[in-house]
Amino acid sequence: MSDFSSVRVHRSKNGQVSCVLENVAESTLGDRGVLIDVYYSGLNFKDALSSAANPGVSRNFPHTPGIDAAGIVRDDPSGTFKAGQRVLVSGYDFGMNTPGGLTQVCRAPVEWVCECPESLSLADAMIYGTPGLTVAQGLDKIKRLQRAEIDGETFVITGASGAVGNLAIILASYSGCKVIALSGKAQLYPRLRELGASECMPSSEWLEPQKKALLKPSWRLGFDTLGGDALVNLLKATDHEGAIVSCGLALSADLTANVYPFILRGVSLLGVDSAEQPLSYKHRLWQQLAEVPLTQKVKDAMVREISLAQVPDYLSAMLKGQGQGRVLVKTR
Ligand SMILES: NC(=O)c1ccc[n+]([C@@H]2O[C@H](COP(=O)([O-])OP(=O)(O)OC[C@H]3O[C@@H](n4cnc5c(N)ncnc54)[C@H](OP(=O)(O)O)[C@@H]3O)[C@@H](O)[C@H]2O)c1
Repeated sequence: MSDFSSVRVHRSKNGQVSCVLENVAESTLGDRGVLIDVYYSGLNFKDALSSAANPGVSRNFPHTPGIDAAGIVRDDPSGTFKAGQRVLVSGYDFGMNTPGGLTQVCRAPVEWVCECPESLSLADAMIYGTPGLTVAQGLDKIKRLQRAEIDGETFVITGASGAVGNLAIILASYSGCKVIALSGKAQLYPRLRELGASECMPSSEWLEPQKKALLKPSWRLGFDTLGGDALVNLLKATDHEGAIVSCGLALSADLTANVYPFILRGVSLLGVDSAEQPLSYKHRLWQQLAEVPLTQKVKDAMVREISLAQVPDYLSAMLKGQGQGRVLVKTR
């Protein structure tokens, strides 16, 4: 057994929190679960919260964050996976109070481990990661509700410059929707258009409370990462029998809405929790994602690849709201 590099969060007795890259002995992983050589991970907002010892996410320290990992099995005591198999781990308690994927080696309970679709590289799997699974699940819910294909529909996305926002643009436009990207970063509009947005608009006017009970119908479908007044305004501007997916709280966890969008326009509000879905469903979503080509042009517009050593600085920037696109972590 040898040492490996791992991002670790420490909390001192006086409550000081530090997030650093350090060498860890393999024996600390114990002997339970699938032993995986991790090749790629990605940064999520939950990892940033974990790196700051947010008690709603992580309570046991020292701790390795990372809710996403892609790697190759070295050993599986359960016999489910063979050495050399390519696998993915995302969500459940991985990277929360169970050591996660921002590391070179991890162990994960076998019931959290999913075979990586053959046509998907480990790097592309982690470009999608939890944000991709989240958007794929949201689109799946919308399609089931609408009982129809959604091509040609107008689809609004908030927090469009973030990881979930970028992937929502890619996947909604791949489904044939006309995407309206709402973003506070006008300088990134050309990139959002490269990803597939038909229209980019400043998010500012959508973040403030609006007195009107309903707003002019401006889209039928949407994906909200912000919560608070942004979600309320999105609902108010949704056309008849439309649907908005709520997945995040980058602006606020509060929701003080009126019922008019629901009772006068038949609008639906759909929730998404990517972490706790059954593994068989996640496997289906990974297979759907594997069918969507990630061209070099799209990767250039969305992905920044970093090393494990750069992770602490990037997580701290994410906490300050400076997250942008998808950060892919190459662990070795
Ligand atoms: N439900 C689930 O399963 C699930 C899964 C993954 C993520 N999430 C949640 O989804 C949200 C987005 O995740 P992410 O990975 O895309 O995060 P991210 O990369 O940090 O992006 C968040 C984006 O939201 C906008 N934003 C952030 N703070 C804001 C503020 N105070 N006011 C207005 N806009 C703000 C910014 O976009 P613009 O500047 O372009 O407006 C930012 O780029 C998070 O809340 C995350 O926890 C949920």
